[in-house]
Amino acid sequence: MGKIAVIGTGYVGLTTGACFAHLGHDVICADIDERKIAKLNKGEIPIHEPGLDRIVHEGRDTGKLLFVLGAEAAARHCEFVYLCVPTPEGADGSADLSYIEAAARQIGPVLPADAVVINKSTVPVGSTRVVERALGRSDVAVVSNPEFLREGSAVNDFLKPDRVVIGADDQSAAVRVASLYVGVPAPLMVTDPASAETIKYACNAFLATKLSFVNAVAAICEAVGADVKDVILGMGYDRRIGHEFLKPGPGWGGSCFPKDSKALIRIAEDHGYDFHLMRGVVSVNEEQFERTAEKVVQMAGGSVDGVKIGAWGIAFKANTDDVRESPALEILGRLARQGAIVRAYDPAVSSPMDDFEVVTDPYAACEGADVLIVLTEWDEFKWLDMDKVRDLMAEPRVVDARNLLDRSALQRRGFSYVGIGRA
Ligand code: UGA
Repeated sequence: MGKIAVIGTGYVGLTTGACFAHLGHDVICADIDERKIAKLNKGEIPIHEPGLDRIVHEGRDTGKLLFVLGAEAAARHCEFVYLCVPTPEGADGSADLSYIEAAARQIGPVLPADAVVINKSTVPVGSTRVVERALGRSDVAVVSNPEFLREGSAVNDFLKPDRVVIGADDQSAAVRVASLYVGVPAPLMVTDPASAETIKYACNAFLATKLSFVNAVAAICEAVGADVKDVILGMGYDRRIGHEFLKPGPGWGGSCFPKDSKALIRIAEDHGYDFHLMRGVVSVNEEQFERTAEKVVQMAGGSVDGVKIGAWGIAFKANTDDVRESPALEILGRLARQGAIVRAYDPAVSSPMDDFEVVTDPYAACEGADVLIVLTEWDEFKWLDMDKVRDLMAEPRVVDARNLLDRSALQRRGFSYVGIGRA
C-alpha cells in the first residue's frame, strides 16, 4: 500500500485522508493551522460530517492516519501527495490559486524522486501546469483527480463514488494513482488533465443549472396554480431527468456551487466563450433569495420592520454545520436589513451571526414570532411539536422554503402556510 500525504484538512482533505487510511494506505495529513492539528491529534474532529469521526478514530488506532503541522513534514517521505487546499473566489470571480501554488512551492524541494502530486481541489482548467511550474521538479508527475463528494455524505461519497476521474499526461502516473482506489467499487476513467478539470466544473455547473431550473419551474407553478411537488414527481419519472437534485428551495449555496459557477463563467470568458446560460443560472438563484425573503414580507403583511421572525436552519443544507454561502444567511440578512428581529435555530450551528440571534432550541426561535421560516431541510424539523410552536408564536404563520413540513397538518392546526411552488 502506498504512502500518501494529504495537504489541507478541510472537508475534502480530512475525508480523503481518513478514507484512504480506511482503505489500508498509510496516510499523513498536514495543515498550516496549528490548533486544528492539535485537535486532530487528540482525536477531536473539527467539522460535522456523518461517519467521519469513526474512520478518523479507526485510522489513529491502527496508526495508518497521522496528522502533522506543515506541508513539508508530510510530503517528505510520501510517494503520493494530494493537494486539498482551498481555491476561494478571487476578486474578479476567477478561482484564487495562491494556496495551491504556495503548497506546491513548499513541497517541491523535499519530495522524494518520482513522487506524484495530485490535485483534488477544484481548480481552473490548466492548473495542472501551474502546479508543475510551482513544484519545479521534472521527475514529479502532476495528476488531476477531482473530488465529487458532497458535504453531509462525504465519507460515503468517497468510498462509494459514482466514478473516479484521473487526468494525466503520464500514463504510468495515472496507473499508480488508479491503484490507490483498489477496493472502491466504481468505474474509473483516465483522461487528460484539462478534460478531468472540465468534468468537475461541468458537473457542478450542470447541477446548479438543474436547481435554478426547478426553482424557476416553482415560480411558474405559483403563477399558474400548479403544485411543484407533483410536477417534480412527474418529471423525475422520466429516466433522462431523474428524481435527484430536483427539489426547489430557497436557492442553492455552499462552498462549491457559487464559486465554481462563477469560476466557470470566467474560464469561458477568458477563452472567448460567453457562457450566458450559466450567467442566467446564477441570476435566477439570486432572484430566488429575494423571492423567498419577499414571501416572509408578504406573510408579515407587507413589511418586516420591527417584526419578529423565527428561523429554522442556518447551514446551507442539512447534515452539515457549514454556513458558507448559505441561502439562510442571504435571506435572513435581507430581512434583518429591512428591520426584522430574527432568532434562528440550527441543530449543527451555534456560533454567533452578524445579522441575527442564534438560539440553541427550536422552540426558543418561535417565541413571540410573527412568522416562522424553514430554511434548511433538517429531518428533525418534521418531528417537532407544532401545537407547541403555534402556542409560542404571536401569529401562527409559516414560510416553508424547503417544502419540508406537512402543509395540511399545519393548516388543520390553524397555521397560515406558504411553501415554494405551491399555490
Ligand atoms: C456539491 C456537489 O454536489 C458535489 O458533487 C461536489 O463535489 C461539491 O459540490 C464540491 O464541488 O466540492 P455540496 O456543496 O456539498 O456538493 O452541496 P450539494 O449537496 O450539492 O448542495 C448544494 C446546494 O443545492 C445546497 O444549498 C442544497 O440545499 C441545494 N439543493 C440540493 C437544493 O436546493 N435542492 C436539491 O434537490 C438539492
